[in-house]
Amino acid sequence: MKKIASTLLVAGTLASTALMADGAITAVKVNTNLDKVSYNSGVWKDAKFSSVTLYPQTTIKFNDKKANEKNAEPKAITAEIAAVYNGQRIAFMIKWPDGTKNVQYAGRTDSYADGFAVQFASNYSNPKELPYIGMGSEGRQVVIHLQKETVKIYEPNGNGDVWHQVNPNQTHLFGKDLAAFNKEVASIGNGDYERSYVGEGFRSMTEIKDGSNNSYSRIGYTGNGWSGTLSRDMKDAYVDLHADAIPVAFAIWDGENMGRNGLKYLTGWTSVELKKGSELTKALSGVVGGDIEAGKQAVAENCASCHQITPADAPSLMGPSLTNIGGYASADYIRESMMKPSAVVVPGYNRNAHSAYAWYNLEDGKRVSTMPDFSWLEAAQMDNIVAYLKTLKAEVK
Ligand code: HEC
Repeated sequence: MKKIASTLLVAGTLASTALMADGAITAVKVNTNLDKVSYNSGVWKDAKFSSVTLYPQTTIKFNDKKANEKNAEPKAITAEIAAVYNGQRIAFMIKWPDGTKNVQYAGRTDSYADGFAVQFASNYSNPKELPYIGMGSEGRQVVIHLQKETVKIYEPNGNGDVWHQVNPNQTHLFGKDLAAFNKEVASIGNGDYERSYVGEGFRSMTEIKDGSNNSYSRIGYTGNGWSGTLSRDMKDAYVDLHADAIPVAFAIWDGENMGRNGLKYLTGWTSVELKKGSELTKALSGVVGGDIEAGKQAVAENCASCHQITPADAPSLMGPSLTNIGGYASADYIRESMMKPSAVVVPGYNRNAHSAYAWYNLEDGKRVSTMPDFSWLEAAQMDNIVAYLKTLKAEVK
């Protein structure tokens, strides 16, 4: 059986409080121009990096046997993340370990790239009601910046990169062809993948193509991992990041394990502090008082019939897997899920493909969760359940 932070399961005590504080990221104010920041920009020397852990998103079983085998026992990944801002722009850098470099070949659908995303909430005035961490949800809009390593490649015969099939130095033999080839590569190959989306859940994601988001993102492999950067305006039509602290979520994809779409690693909403000691940091800190052992029992009684709780359980059919919920959901989010199941209906679930186990019903065009309302639970029991669910997360690689 796989151990899930079992050292945290201190029997019958109020042990959770200090153990689970997730850190904030300190944004450093700089006077530098942040229009086009990359991973080798000098500005990062002034930045403060914090360790932030990204957990495998196991909400929905992926519909790909081979990919599922490769990700049978996913481990969490710890990244180093920093932020700098100058009042008009804000920039982020995320560095994460990855022993294998996987790049996206333009025009090919069978290649899986390493990449990362940075996500912002359009409305974060109430930290207890942030958007669904995956891609937002109905009524809770997010903006997502996505970047993957893409190479310029041209392979008309399907045997891989032509560049490596010919010796490019033999220009006396095919200099002309080579020049034509290079020109064609430049026109077909897309050397940069950067994209931005706005949406309220999986199927609503819309690419922002009019440049109104004014962002700039780069990615580079350093031999044992990736460094990715994003710089963007602090305010645009979709978000306003002028605040003491802003909630930001990060995701990474591992191409080696066929990662794409929902097959990713992600942080919970993480407080990026422009000013120290904000309310947001407190709300997202993950500090929960509760009896973890009692919570475990309450979950077994009330929740396990619909949810997979540990990876050792048979996958449940009725609801999302909660095996990593403690890694990417805040305590408030878990509480809201029990008190008001329909406030956030987990998106990404295909109602037509699984009609026997609907996660939601449509009532007047609105999604209504099929999860029962647990607001009748005693407050203390609710705390116990939240404290226990916050311990559910994969070990770090
Ligand atoms: C009858 C089945 C059922 C029971 C019992 C049930 N749930 Fe759920 N739960 C669901 C369904 C279906 C969803 C997905 C739809 C939604 O978001 O409401 C869900 C969603 C969730 C989510 C959001 C997951 C995510 O990935 O964001 C959490 C957290 C959750 N449930 C916790 C609980 C807890 C805690 C209990 C027990 C106190 C419980 N559930 C009992 C069916 C159930």
